[in-house]
Amino acid sequence: DALSNRMARLSSVADDKKLKLQEILQPLYLSEETIKRIMDTMEEQMRLATSKDEATRKKSDILMAITHVRCLLDGRENGDFLGLDLGGTNFRVVHVNLKDGVATTNTKYYSLTEEVLCGPCAGVFDFIALSIEDFLKQENLITSEQKLPLGFTFSFPSTQIALNSAILLTWTKSFKCPDGVGQDSVKLLEEAISRKSPNLPVDIVAVMSDTTSTLMAGNYLDKKCRIGVILGTGSNAAFVEHLENIEKYTGDFKEPKQVLVNVEWGCMGDGGCLDFYKTEFEKEVDQYSNHVNSFTFEKSFAGMYLGEFVRLVLVKLTNQGVLFNGQVTEELATRWKFTSGFVTEIDSDKGSDTTKTRQILEKIKVEKLATDEDVAIVREVCDFVVQRASYIVAAALAVLIRHVNLPEVTVAIDGSLYEHHPKFHNYMMELISQLNLHTQVKLILAKDGSGQGAAFAAVAGLRQKEENIV
Ligand code: GLC
Repeated sequence: DALSNRMARLSSVADDKKLKLQEILQPLYLSEETIKRIMDTMEEQMRLATSKDEATRKKSDILMAITHVRCLLDGRENGDFLGLDLGGTNFRVVHVNLKDGVATTNTKYYSLTEEVLCGPCAGVFDFIALSIEDFLKQENLITSEQKLPLGFTFSFPSTQIALNSAILLTWTKSFKCPDGVGQDSVKLLEEAISRKSPNLPVDIVAVMSDTTSTLMAGNYLDKKCRIGVILGTGSNAAFVEHLENIEKYTGDFKEPKQVLVNVEWGCMGDGGCLDFYKTEFEKEVDQYSNHVNSFTFEKSFAGMYLGEFVRLVLVKLTNQGVLFNGQVTEELATRWKFTSGFVTEIDSDKGSDTTKTRQILEKIKVEKLATDEDVAIVREVCDFVVQRASYIVAAALAVLIRHVNLPEVTVAIDGSLYEHHPKFHNYMMELISQLNLHTQVKLILAKDGSGQGAAFAAVAGLRQKEENIV
């Protein structure tokens, strides 16, 4: 199988070590059958989540949330719009100017401190309000007479009530505020604005997930874009769905007879439906994570967890004497110290060049212990875990591609992992082509799409208001 082929290629490693390595990696190997089962599970989860019947919907871990975004841009738009992006590593404020559908975008990044991420949520929203104020001042937009329509990317699972109203279900990723759950993120932001900067000339038109905004941004770049994916700190997807395919849909059936659906696939498996492929590593990543027993699916591959995943494999290999002369340094033993950025660095070494891998090994203080054999094994582990991660996310994506069922589909992807890791794209494409989907698939990077796309959703929201589409 593929794992044996990998071992055969590791020519610089002694046979006994290879055997042990293969034994430890074996449970991580995804057979065709496992991939198929992931896809079947996802399909079933989607079906359950769109049911009219509440009890049926509850059987699904995912949300399939109706975003209320019905319109995509058609190239005739004009005006100034704002986008906010909260959820990943950086908070962003974006100004988009549209002239006959052509966007000029200005982005500013603001970083949230650990203290704010863990404190009362009013602190997070105050921070946003102050950042908007700072941004508008810098961009000289504060003088504008009209209020600027604003789209707010708030990337946490929420119950979408209306285009501009969403109730937070849970914080995820690095956000650990003790409160906020059960509250409307738009109201929380409006309250913060009245507290901190009551005269801020903004009108919050839409609140959405980062997948929704990434899809909007992707569709601006390429009209064939029907799916938006985030592959960053967390992971999730949204797609354009026909209204008649959504059993639970209760809105109007005016043209366009479509709505963006936010899948929220990160929490798939929380009810156990993915237990069939979970390994000891997934379980341990979960056990020490911010939100235990939740976001099962994303813990197999998203940026917040991938480095820790690799670290656990390396520790196991070291304990079994395969690596570093059996010595686990304090740095290697420390949870979360090995970031996904490290994995990206290691996988960036090409051919026989091992410079970056050695730099990372220095960071975890194993450089002096590391032989050429160790370097080769570490590289192999990173590549293998990344291939598995890419395959898992691509399997879920393939289900959406199949569901959208068009001859050609472009998927817009945003997020640090996809953007910076040199192999995710190719491995995802590798699996997608193996699956023979009868769709020509293109994966494109929508860099900072979730900020820009938020502004685009505000544009769509205004049009929907004008045309009374709800
Ligand atoms: C997490 C969030 C989800 C978001 C994704 C990508 O899974 O729950 O809402 O879309 O991360 O940022």
